[in-house]
Amino acid sequence: MKKIFAGNWKLFKSPAETRAFMSKFKEVMGSVTGEVVFFPSAISLEAACEAVKGSAIKIGVQNAYTQASGAFTGENSAQVVKELGGQYILIGHSERRSIFGETDALIADKVAYVQSLGLTPMLCIGETLQEREATHTFRVLETQLLLGLAKADKAKPIVVAYEPVWAIGTGKVATPEQVAETHTDVHSILTKMGFTAPILYGGSVKPDNAGQLIKQAHVSGFLVGGASLEVDSFQKIATV
Ligand code: 13P
Repeated sequence: MKKIFAGNWKLFKSPAETRAFMSKFKEVMGSVTGEVVFFPSAISLEAACEAVKGSAIKIGVQNAYTQASGAFTGENSAQVVKELGGQYILIGHSERRSIFGETDALIADKVAYVQSLGLTPMLCIGETLQEREATHTFRVLETQLLLGLAKADKAKPIVVAYEPVWAIGTGKVATPEQVAETHTDVHSILTKMGFTAPILYGGSVKPDNAGQLIKQAHVSGFLVGGASLEVDSFQKIATV
């Protein structure tokens, strides 16, 4: 299976900065053997989709609502993402859960809706430091998967991103042993539920730790925040 290298740009990069990045990244795409996906902010989505035309770079948004249109102020339409040529939707990122109060029930509806449009949901799961220290990691991840995938179609594509909350934007990356152990757990939970999905690791992935992490069991690629904002660092990660 092709590895997936995804960049979550969070609330960074204007449309002009997006176009400039993509025109440089297209030049280095030849060195990448895996699949590359960027998640720009929704306002830069159209610029990103236009800029990657004719290349293998894929695009998605960081959140989308459970309906195509309606009186939902401030939300994004996955239907519009599809019309613009986007293929992925990030769902349930820890920042959506903790800052914007997204529940597993809402996340489950989003996953199902995105799949119904023929787009690929990238479902994010992960434990807090407190939960890890209390040895609740397995239970937390199992619950997030059971609830988040409750309405998902097993026959349609889905990607899972394991992002320990304590490793996001902290520079504190999970050790290769922690990644191997947790990805093996996530894989076995998914298998028991009847799902086959690539499992990406996310949380302070950088060029100097990507090489070790990609070799761990059931690591199918990365979801990268900070290090995806520069062409050079993301290219290094995407060519490990
Ligand atoms: P960092 O790579 O900046 O830790 O962010 C990870 C992340 O949240 C990707 O979704």
